[in-house]
Amino acid sequence: MQLPSEPQKNLTVQGWVRTRRDSKTCTFIELNDGSSLRGLQIVADNSLACAPLYPQILTGASLRVTGDLVPSPGANQALELLATDIEILGPADSTYPLQKKGHTTEFLRTIAHLRPRTNLLGSVFRVRSRMAYAIHQFFQERGFFYIHTPIITSSDCEGAGEMFRVTTLPTGTPSKPEDDFFAKPTYLTVSGQLQGEAFACALGNIYTFGPTFRAENSNTARHAAEFWMIEPEMAFCNLEGDMNTAEENLKYLLTALFKTCPEELEFFNKFIDKTLVARLQHTLDKPFQRVTYTDAVDILLKSGKSFEYPVSWGQNLQSEHERFLAEEHFQSPVTVYNYPKTIKPFYMRQNDDGKTVAAMDVLVPGIGEIIGGSQREERLDLLEAAMAHHDLDPENYRWYTDLRRYGSVPHAGYGLGFERFLMFATGVSNIRDVIPFARTPGHAEY
Ligand code: 4AD
Ligand code: MG
Repeated sequence: MQLPSEPQKNLTVQGWVRTRRDSKTCTFIELNDGSSLRGLQIVADNSLACAPLYPQILTGASLRVTGDLVPSPGANQALELLATDIEILGPADSTYPLQKKGHTTEFLRTIAHLRPRTNLLGSVFRVRSRMAYAIHQFFQERGFFYIHTPIITSSDCEGAGEMFRVTTLPTGTPSKPEDDFFAKPTYLTVSGQLQGEAFACALGNIYTFGPTFRAENSNTARHAAEFWMIEPEMAFCNLEGDMNTAEENLKYLLTALFKTCPEELEFFNKFIDKTLVARLQHTLDKPFQRVTYTDAVDILLKSGKSFEYPVSWGQNLQSEHERFLAEEHFQSPVTVYNYPKTIKPFYMRQNDDGKTVAAMDVLVPGIGEIIGGSQREERLDLLEAAMAHHDLDPENYRWYTDLRRYGSVPHAGYGLGFERFLMFATGVSNIRDVIPFARTPGHAEY
């Protein structure tokens, strides 16, 4: 609760009851309004006119309390509120699911509408809000323009066939494209990058920060069907500049985290992951390691580890490989770059070796990939060849190739998964617990 730091007479507070405990002469109520982990102890004497209400003040009820904020004799708090009047705004009964005891995160997911009232989820969502603000600060301070790229799109940025189709009811999927609402098939965006490129090639440095959708049927702790992505796009920028900005971006956010969320960090470090603060501090203090994909494959092959998925040049790195690199080998975030072109989307810039593209992924301990980015192919002939290779209809992407036809410039960008970042920042190990209402295969409650 945001309270005066000094004693104060006649203060009114409002919040939800965490616990109530009765003594012979008074009742103690722990009240929390969600603004911080710190609640307020209310001491209500049995001589007050509202005393007959005390038995109805149950965990989960909402109250308005007036009283004097005075020094507390108790060890847990500096100040407490000596009530003069208590009003029950909304009662709660014994069916309230968040009775004072530990709850598993699995159980809390089944009551996603009530779980922000817990210390854990309340902390996560306060951090989420402050980090969203810090993201805007990072880019705005550097002169990036915030661009709202479309949610409904006819372009497939990643080419991974993981798009949710948009259709109108009641007809469902039209049999002919011209019967479609938009006269062509449309999808929920998997990335704002392509449209972001158009704006970077006009305004210089831009970023998007919005919801992103992927129909990946992977039921893992780090994949959601709806997540938020931060996507900067920078004109006159190469892969090196891209990697530098990504590192600066992550470090800026961690600095803001230490500054704006000290209580929450302390809480996570105590109850979620005792190595969290040390790991975040280490991430801030050290330059990120950088390694080419080819060298990373070598490290994996020579590691002597038996991985579930085999490692070989030309294959995607699996989560277990990414985590081995970040957690065990480098023991810090690591940026892997220059991936084989065969495993990457069409828009990445081909390197002179003809085999790799100027791609980069930032991998962090505990999660694996948190950022994916690249320098974009700015040469029209090479882009057209890559599109043909990926079977993309040149007419659909005419606008995108125009960016190379008229005043093409080297440019680069990346996507930072907001939920993956929050998992890293809080130590929370499941993506379902860092997004208010998770959408995963089989789950779209609420
Ligand atoms: O690596 P990805 O697929 O890259 C892109 O979409 C590029 N167009 C970004 C760009 O260059 N502008 O996704 C970027 C990041 C990943 O590193 C990961 O953090 C997150 O988005 N991400 C997911 N987060 C949660 N659930 C999923 N299903 C995710 N898929 C990707
Ligand atoms: Mg990726």
